[in-house]
Amino acid sequence: MVGPALSESEYLSRQSAFLGQLPESSLVLIPTNPVTYRSNDTVYPYRANSYMLYLCGWSEPEAVLMAHHEASEWVTTLFVQPRDTKAELWEGRRVGVEGAALGWPVDRTCSIGKLSDCVSEFLDDCESVYYLPDLNPELDELVSRTQAVELADPTTALDDMRVIKSDAEVAMIQQSSDIASEAHIAAMRATSPGIAEWEIQSVIEAVFTARRSCWAYQSIVGGGENATILHYKSNNNRIADGDLVLVDAGCEVSGYASDITRTWPVSGKFSDQQREIYELVLKAQMAGIDACQAGSVWLSMHRATSVVLAQGLIELGILDCTVEEAIGDDMEFNGPYRNFFMHGTGHMLGLDVHDVGGGRQGDKDEGPILQPGMVVTVEPGLYFGSWRDDIEIPDRYAGIGVRIEDDVLVTADGPVVLTSGCPKTIEEIEALVGSEG
Ligand code: GLY
Ligand code: MN
Ligand code: MN
Repeated sequence: MVGPALSESEYLSRQSAFLGQLPESSLVLIPTNPVTYRSNDTVYPYRANSYMLYLCGWSEPEAVLMAHHEASEWVTTLFVQPRDTKAELWEGRRVGVEGAALGWPVDRTCSIGKLSDCVSEFLDDCESVYYLPDLNPELDELVSRTQAVELADPTTALDDMRVIKSDAEVAMIQQSSDIASEAHIAAMRATSPGIAEWEIQSVIEAVFTARRSCWAYQSIVGGGENATILHYKSNNNRIADGDLVLVDAGCEVSGYASDITRTWPVSGKFSDQQREIYELVLKAQMAGIDACQAGSVWLSMHRATSVVLAQGLIELGILDCTVEEAIGDDMEFNGPYRNFFMHGTGHMLGLDVHDVGGGRQGDKDEGPILQPGMVVTVEPGLYFGSWRDDIEIPDRYAGIGVRIEDDVLVTADGPVVLTSGCPKTIEEIEALVGSEG
């Protein structure tokens, strides 16, 4: 039986910090994610709901965490699938009601079969219900039938907590980052001209599996022009000698994600044009990392990468305007540089790869203030897809796509790059690619 990922005291302090913000007359219902079907009776790999993982570390399906106030304190109840030999014979072992009581940080455990009866009683007695809808139809039905109670959103309070990572969470993200770094290094070493995208994917994911993790999102392995498709994931092309390959792949350890992108030449040597774009993206990425300072607004990172990229695009003769014009009036981020850098600079990272919190680059809103304990990605890129019919692509750079992405912890003493084990300078990459022989 695999227990919760973190210490009991960490979960209990999260629960009391969350519940302490709610009126005592309320009821909390956090269902986990449903099992989803891929085809006929074949299911997608199961992943528990991140709020469930955050509050009590329970990772089996068909579960609901409930909290109610009783005799001047909050009481937590975890509804889980009961032991059932016939079901376990087909689907695998379950922790069960007694196992959950022994190993998980909740006051009471109960069979999920008793959910309706039990919850109906508490719903009758509460004034508001803090509820995650659309995950558990049985609960949706129960809650919707209870007209007297006010529905409230638990995610506002929980997201404020989740956005600041504890030391134990940072340690998990570090482990995940180390495995993903190792995977990228293995893929660089195994790369030689003629390699296919799926072959690089298999090297990456073999490391994830060997280290008892799994991918946090579908691995992107884009060779040549495919590197210019932001969410490319078919990974079904052979890569021509002389092309770059862009690999965006991260894994998950006990629910915590890493998210790394590296771009390298399959031949082991950057061409002049590839080098010009790579050096520019790397310079922008370093500026973005430098901007991850406690006390700065979220948008600082995007400002920093945008200024470097816009300046570089002008110096390379790709844009013919001022930096301000390239970025857009009033730093709107909608100027012509956006033709080549069309996504944000980063996002929060944690239990979700695109974790809670953070801001949206391009909004007028400057986003939240960066604080120690936040983990963010910094991932500028430049993309010159010659297949595009919406803009003119400069011949010299046609077909090049480069993104460089690291995971960064904000601290009082400045940014700490959790993925620093993954090489990214041109010299390091040229030394590694193909070195497996
Ligand atoms: N891998 C998804 C992203 O970089 O945001
Ligand atoms: Mn990312
Ligand atoms: Mn990524």
